[in-house]
Amino acid sequence: MAKVLIIYYSKTGNTERVANQITQRLAAEGKKVEKIRLAEEKNHSFLGDALRALFKVKGKVKEANLDLKGYDSIFFGTPVWAGSPAPALNKYLEECQGLKGKEVSIFVTYGSGLGKGRAMRMLEEMVERKGGIIFQKLAVQEKEVLKEGAR
Ligand SMILES: Cc1cc2nc3c(=O)[nH]c(=O)nc-3n(C[C@H](O)[C@H](O)[C@H](O)COP(=O)(O)O)c2cc1C
Repeated sequence: MAKVLIIYYSKTGNTERVANQITQRLAAEGKKVEKIRLAEEKNHSFLGDALRALFKVKGKVKEANLDLKGYDSIFFGTPVWAGSPAPALNKYLEECQGLKGKEVSIFVTYGSGLGKGRAMRMLEEMVERKGGIIFQKLAVQEKEVLKEGAR
């Protein structure tokens, strides 16, 4: 059975809802899915979060499994913050191991859409630097996430 790992950061739950929907779909396809929601050690203000994302800070993340060797494919998810991935995911991507040659999908949620393409490119570059192969890309606007959740 194919093993899939979904790793994501979500502060206000939108990216989490998309991660849950992806999980359901993959499970329905008969895949074994594990999920890791990254957690920051500290809470920051809106401006603090935006600035940390803009300046590519690597967030302090609570411990999470960094070894990706045992999985057939990996999903990385994050909100778009100041046209960038969230610091917690930057940190994870810097530290994780075993991404080489793996099929990787990325997903983001966003508000206005400003900087969405930039954030996705930054994610792709981080994945490719680690030897991962980009397979699928998904961007969901926050109001679409809420609509799906209410259905
Ligand atoms: C600090 C901060 C910065 C943000 N910057 C952007 C941005 O540059 N572009 C955008 O489209 N949305 C931006 N947003 C909106 C979020 O991407 C959007 O609300 C997202 O769905 C939140 O995901 P979450 O609920 O999983 O935390 C920002 C939100 C926050 C809190």
